[in-house]
Amino acid sequence: MALKDDVVAALRQVADPSGDRDIATTGRAAGLVVKDDGIVGLVLSVDGLDRVAAERLQAAVEVAVNRVAGVNAARIILTADRGAAPTPGAQPVAPTVAGIRKLIAVASGKGGVGKSTVAANLAVALARAGYAVGLLDADIYGPSVPTLMGIEGRARLEGNRLQPAVAHGIKALSMGMMTDPKKAIVWRGPMASSALVQMVEQADWGVLDVLVIDMPPGTGDVQLTLAQKLKPDGAVIVSTPQDLALIDARRAVSMFNEVGVRVLGIIENMSGYLCPHCGEASDPFGHGGAEAEATTMGVPFLGRVPLDIALRTASDAGQPGTGKQAEVFAEIARGVAVTVGL
Ligand SMILES: Nc1ncnc2c1ncn2[C@@H]1O[C@H](COP(=O)(O)OP(=O)(O)OP(=O)(O)O)[C@@H](O)[C@H]1O
Ligand SMILES: [Mg+2]
Repeated sequence: MALKDDVVAALRQVADPSGDRDIATTGRAAGLVVKDDGIVGLVLSVDGLDRVAAERLQAAVEVAVNRVAGVNAARIILTADRGAAPTPGAQPVAPTVAGIRKLIAVASGKGGVGKSTVAANLAVALARAGYAVGLLDADIYGPSVPTLMGIEGRARLEGNRLQPAVAHGIKALSMGMMTDPKKAIVWRGPMASSALVQMVEQADWGVLDVLVIDMPPGTGDVQLTLAQKLKPDGAVIVSTPQDLALIDARRAVSMFNEVGVRVLGIIENMSGYLCPHCGEASDPFGHGGAEAEATTMGVPFLGRVPLDIALRTASDAGQPGTGKQAEVFAEIARGVAVTVGL
């Protein structure tokens, strides 16, 4: 039963909040059941933990178990004989964005530069680095997180709280999970932005180290309202290297500056192309433009993501990038984590 061993090994990586041992050793995680279809069930005792600590532990366990290859879903039952157990539907600790340490907006001035791909892979890379991560697809007109993360079906409501889906070790929520994917959404700006603010503040994210928000492309009213209402701790701007995209990236940087949101830096996507057949390196969109632009604007440069067909095929298949691509995103995630103070 190799999968069970792997899950136990993952639980051994989660520290017990009451001391320096892990939750498998202390028995805080118990009753482990691993089914053939990759469904994992366990009982997590939250004795002696307050609500925040309990939710944080639950999130850590969810992330650890879901990250094990072969696990399709984790069902974690919380129990407490004494102490404050989390009560479903209880008031959040703080009135807004309770339990989310950092909000990071991933934005671009221009559409189609790979913002959603970068946001999703950055979220997965942060989770692999050990953070509890959520991903909100704020692109109401062209939601792509369900496709990128391989999420099917609609979001569940429990009580009156939306439940994010769990995929690739992160929690994810998208407008694409609220509506019929084949139908166009005809919401106007104000409705759209208030729905998104609600998805951040009222969905059942549990305790997150970071919520990554895949912003809609552009710098219009919806983007501006979102930036003002959500007050993210930082914004990451994605641009391709060519001048046209950079002009829009500049616009995005000034929009965030105007509303007092710190720009954490710029990522250059589709930067250079390595031919999978002949190995020749070429630059369809040039490269280095975003780095130079970052220097001009006085914002950090967070790294470049090469144009790579493997990333496109993985994305279309609902998978994060692997191999070299995963390394690239791990490096970018390290930079983002340090810059935002995770
Ligand atoms: N580095 C890359 N290498 C190869 N393909 C990429 C790369 N980055 C993005 N793509 C592909 O480019 C297309 C557009 O990417 P994506 O949907 O992430 O862009 P976007 O900026 O979010 O677009 P939109 O403005 O429509 O929201 C997708 O098919 C994606 O798989
Ligand atoms: Mg997108």
